[in-house]
Amino acid sequence: MFSSTAARRLLPRSVGVTSTSSRFASTKGRADLLAGAGAYGGLADQDRIFTNLYGEQDWRLKDALKRGDYHLTADIMRMGPDWIVQEIKDSGLRGRGGAGFPSGLKWSFMPKDSDGRPSFLVVNADESEPGTCKDREIMRKDPHKLIEGCLLAGYAMRARAAYIYIRGEYFNEAVVLDEAIHEAYAAGLIGRDACGSGYDFDVYLHRGAGAYICGEETALIESLEGRQGKPRLKPPFPAGVGLFGCPSTVTNVETVAVSPTILRRGASWFAGFGNPNNRGTKLFAISGHVKNPIVVEESMSIPLRELIEKHCGGMRNGWDSLRACIPGGSSVPVLNKPQCDDALMEFDDLRSKGSGLGTAAVTMFDNTVDMVGAIRRLAHFYKHESCGQCTPCREGTSWLEDILIRMERGDADKREIPMLEEISRQIEGHTICALGDAAAWPVQGLLRHFRKDIEDRIDDPSSFDPDKAFQYAWSGDPFDNKEWVEANGDKMVYGLPK
Ligand SMILES: Cc1cc2nc3c(=O)[nH]c(=O)nc-3n(C[C@H](O)[C@H](O)[C@H](O)COP(=O)(O)O)c2cc1C
Ligand code: SF4
Repeated sequence: MFSSTAARRLLPRSVGVTSTSSRFASTKGRADLLAGAGAYGGLADQDRIFTNLYGEQDWRLKDALKRGDYHLTADIMRMGPDWIVQEIKDSGLRGRGGAGFPSGLKWSFMPKDSDGRPSFLVVNADESEPGTCKDREIMRKDPHKLIEGCLLAGYAMRARAAYIYIRGEYFNEAVVLDEAIHEAYAAGLIGRDACGSGYDFDVYLHRGAGAYICGEETALIESLEGRQGKPRLKPPFPAGVGLFGCPSTVTNVETVAVSPTILRRGASWFAGFGNPNNRGTKLFAISGHVKNPIVVEESMSIPLRELIEKHCGGMRNGWDSLRACIPGGSSVPVLNKPQCDDALMEFDDLRSKGSGLGTAAVTMFDNTVDMVGAIRRLAHFYKHESCGQCTPCREGTSWLEDILIRMERGDADKREIPMLEEISRQIEGHTICALGDAAAWPVQGLLRHFRKDIEDRIDDPSSFDPDKAFQYAWSGDPFDNKEWVEANGDKMVYGLPK
């Protein structure tokens, strides 16, 4: 273990000891920090991991080094794989890909001794869930955070190489990431004797063809191997039999990209944010009826309302116009207004409200939205993306959409409401992969909070006006981000710098 002094030694020269960490260091011991409630809300700039999220600096290696990337990477590696895994466990980092599984524990499942097969780290950059766009910002603005993360996470898993699987539609992101990988090879940061550590580690980039199901870890492995992206039955789990039949860990871009900073600044620094079991800083991707949609890094457990008002300028027509919120990407159930009023953006509080943090993609809906239509649209997405292997998912997702299309128009029988619920329950938990659950949960959220909307529509179908209900991508109103444009607009450079 590093003592706090040793951990400080690893701080990049360009990154000072933060006000938050020094405050904690002076008032609390490491054990207190790991056990107690940390700070949340109001993340200070010095505590942000992704310091180039808005592209104010160059993504290339020269600027990445100034931001502190690759600082003492070899020294961290010299602490050994077990130390890295323990530090990630102590930091409380939970997977940022949706399920929130403890990352250190997951990395520890990889074999310590090889039976002759190499091990692989597989980075999930498929990011296809509606509303989710946080990994994209990492890959196009701060790609070296991900590449250094691959080396450190891969080393901790005793992996020979990392395969980054990026969704096909992220063409520009793939170009930037590919170039950044070349830069890292040329500078000796990856490849043979990576960072002068004596460890050989390769990083490969693989472009997908644009299917949501390829984000599911075993479908992703199938796709990487050149087959159709259809999820595998588990067990065996990837840590035993994964990519090319070798031990593998599939993990999200953000999970990997935050790990170098955690290792440099120490587990207790990261654990100083958020409530117990919900540690760290997190990227939130906020869209919908807010004044300024944004991807922003904040501390875990920040109240939803504070997140929206502080970083998005609030709801476009004020907080009271809020109707609903999907707090974690399209697969988690919707929250109603009273729940939003006191929701904390963390795994536990959102679960206690019947929803989840998922990918932390927050979609805000104001009272102009027809919630039946909104969930019907999501049902269409899941039907379209089902790979068709499991009957409940293949058939059930079509039935959900068919019923919701009629319910949206008021052309349904009230007895179909419990039928809709039953179909969703028959899908949930009865399929090979979690796409079935992801299709069922939004419908269950609709029935939990907006059942009356469905009943009223059936009672009076003429109340449905499709033209009025249609939501345009942009209202035509001027954007309320003058300050940002004044500060950055003129100097913006599109395309790659010369
Ligand atoms: C249908 C489906 C799509 C998924 N898409 C993604 C994705 O795009 N990115 C991602 O990181 N995880 C996705 N996941 C979750 C992954 O299967 C896996 O749990 C995750 O990559 C693990 O990373 P983590 O431990 O860092 O959270 C998806 C899961 C399902 C069922
Ligand atoms: S749940 Fe749906 S997407 Fe997942 S394996 Fe079954 S059919 Fe395919």
